[in-house]
Amino acid sequence: MISYWKNGSVQQDRTLSNTQTLLEFLRDTKRLTGTKEGCASGDCGACTVVLVTLDADEKLCYEAVNSCLMPVAELDGKALITVEDLAQGDQLHPLQQAFIDYHASQCGFCTPGFILSALALKKQHPSPDIEAIDEALGGNLCRCTGYSPIIKAVLLADCTNDRFTQLEASLVDSLKHLNRNDDPVTGFHQPSTLEALCCLKAEYPESVLLSGGTDWMLRATQGLERVETLISTEKIAALHQLTVEQGCWSVGAAVSLTRIKEQAKVSGFAALDQLLSRFASQQIRNRATLGGSIGNASPIGDLAPLLLALQADLTLNSVQQERTVALEDFFLGYKHTALQSNEVISQIHFRVEEGAHIYFEKVSKRIDDDISAVAVATHYTLDEGRIHGLLIGLGGMAATPVLAKDVMTAFEDVDPTTITLEQISSALSELTPMSDLRGSAEYRLTVCARVIHHHLTRAEVSA
Ligand SMILES: Cc1cc2nc3c(=O)[nH]c(=O)nc-3n(C[C@H](O)[C@H](O)[C@H](O)COP(=O)(O)OP(=O)(O)OC[C@H]3O[C@@H](n4cnc5c(N)ncnc54)[C@H](O)[C@@H]3O)c2cc1C
Ligand code: FES
Ligand code: FES
Repeated sequence: MISYWKNGSVQQDRTLSNTQTLLEFLRDTKRLTGTKEGCASGDCGACTVVLVTLDADEKLCYEAVNSCLMPVAELDGKALITVEDLAQGDQLHPLQQAFIDYHASQCGFCTPGFILSALALKKQHPSPDIEAIDEALGGNLCRCTGYSPIIKAVLLADCTNDRFTQLEASLVDSLKHLNRNDDPVTGFHQPSTLEALCCLKAEYPESVLLSGGTDWMLRATQGLERVETLISTEKIAALHQLTVEQGCWSVGAAVSLTRIKEQAKVSGFAALDQLLSRFASQQIRNRATLGGSIGNASPIGDLAPLLLALQADLTLNSVQQERTVALEDFFLGYKHTALQSNEVISQIHFRVEEGAHIYFEKVSKRIDDDISAVAVATHYTLDEGRIHGLLIGLGGMAATPVLAKDVMTAFEDVDPTTITLEQISSALSELTPMSDLRGSAEYRLTVCARVIHHHLTRAEVSA
């Protein structure tokens, strides 16, 4: 049984299975068909809904998410807003009215998703600029209207006194008192401590660990995979800790990419902020975690190259022990890692030196919401005009994320202005990237050499 707030009251419902998505629950169980299914894989935004939770200061936090990738079990203890909750009788919500006034909808299939993405943005930032609107809507596709009227409608709608503002006090009260169920759905565990998580991993070695679910849930929705036991990290406070002290970052495995992006902005870590602007969409970043991004061991993941270039360490926990593993030693082969079946990643640590040159570049076919063909992260310091401590992390260039060791050795203690593209290409020739629809091996080698050359010959300090 899950308990959640919707449209002014607390509701309780049974769910069908541990992999039933929030979208399936809304459309098939609740017959709320305003939320649309386009791709069922996180790409189109038609299924966007808003989740509301309380942050550490008991302030309401509105986040847009793809309901097609979220197990409905994770709705337990949260508030949910779908398009059906916006109008009150004939009185449209200001965003709905603005979409009409500025001609922001034609066939209307994408409209609920756009409006819900916009609602989350306007509740968090009442007067967003065009850049913020662009970022918030980057995960929503419209095939008929064109984006200018949609952006105009979002810019001009005034949501400061909408019905959710009026419901605020009762919503805070409901969220404080919502009874969170420990295991709301059969085969879906939500432990609240790291110790309990490790015990469950020991008890169910074949279980699947789920953090944001933006990667693993595709196996359920696209691959129709079923699993007896899912264990969620979402309710474990220790895995949500994020600290930055004197450039040393300690990030809990369940910290969302949205939070990490906010911290990168605050800490002036431009390369990480830029990386996360190009990472999937706002809806995905709201759910996706750093632990899941490393745990999936994707050879084309964007964060691993940067973390390799920062010499990140992982803390791994099991019932028996806690151990530290360098990220470089974690990836053993294609989707194969040093993680034992009873272990979990609990923390990720890295250090950002003041004055270091840290650059990241993602090469993909689209700017928004696309997967990398190649990702390059470069990290070095300049001492009297020569390169020191060169570290280059690569994605899309091998079966795992890798360090470009031959390039690192070749250009240590070298004046970057003397480095040629040919020298970099030659040092990269040991790598044998695959050819696929994102790029041929030859393309990947060529573009990778060019990006590294650009990174080594850039002058400004970016960290
Ligand atoms: C539309 C779309 C766009 C995407 N775009 C990008 C992109 O631009 N760049 C990119 O890099 N990725 C992208 N991804 C992939 C994915 O969203 C990210 O890799 C994300 O960071 C995964 O995090 P998660 O918490 O959702 O992982 P989950 O799906 O929860 O887990 C992923 C894997 O890691 C394991 N895992 C989770 N937590 C832990 C833990 N604490 N310890 C050990 N193992 C763990 C899980 O068992 C699972 O095997 C995209 C995905 C989608 C659907
Ligand atoms: S249905 Fe396309 S993102 Fe969910
Ligand atoms: S209005 Fe038709 S897809 Fe956007």
